[in-house]
Amino acid sequence: MKNLLIIYHSQTGNTEAMARAISEGAGAAGATVALKKAVDANDKDILDCDAVAIGTPNYFSYMAGMVKDFFDRAWPTVREKMADKPYVAFGSYGGGGTVAIETVERICDNMHMKRICEPVSAQRQPTPENLAECKELGKKLAQL
Ligand SMILES: Cc1cc2nc3c(=O)[nH]c(=O)nc-3n(C[C@H](O)[C@H](O)[C@H](O)COP(=O)(O)O)c2cc1C
Repeated sequence: MKNLLIIYHSQTGNTEAMARAISEGAGAAGATVALKKAVDANDKDILDCDAVAIGTPNYFSYMAGMVKDFFDRAWPTVREKMADKPYVAFGSYGGGGTVAIETVERICDNMHMKRICEPVSAQRQPTPENLAECKELGKKLAQL
């Protein structure tokens, strides 16, 4: 896999730390990585990449509004073109678990994208173990 896109939103840096660790792992394994805040990402970004990692914090038991906004903007042009595109979801939560990440997976699954593995999640600030898991995920994405 050559080009990895990592899209994320993060208000207090927790999901962003995970995104950076995924990027580090993928870069070290030879992938070209585009790390983009959801607000800056568009339909072309997700069409052009070979695989995508999508990160969201849990805000009100749903994906962050900016991640939803990305899907809202991109979906009309990409929805018929995403089949089998490898993806993984990740993110941080407070006490509510992975329910927000699952809302991302629902949209990706609806577009028949290919989920490459279980999501990676962290409670609030990612621990060194969480970050190591993210780096491993980056490596896995690079090796697809
Ligand atoms: C507006 C807002 C709503 C939140 N709602 C939830 C929630 O419903 N469930 C939960 O587990 N955590 C909730 N949290 C906590 C965040 O998921 C948690 O602090 C997370 O680490 C934030 O990640 P970030 O630093 O990437 O923004 C909320 C935080 C904010 C700011």
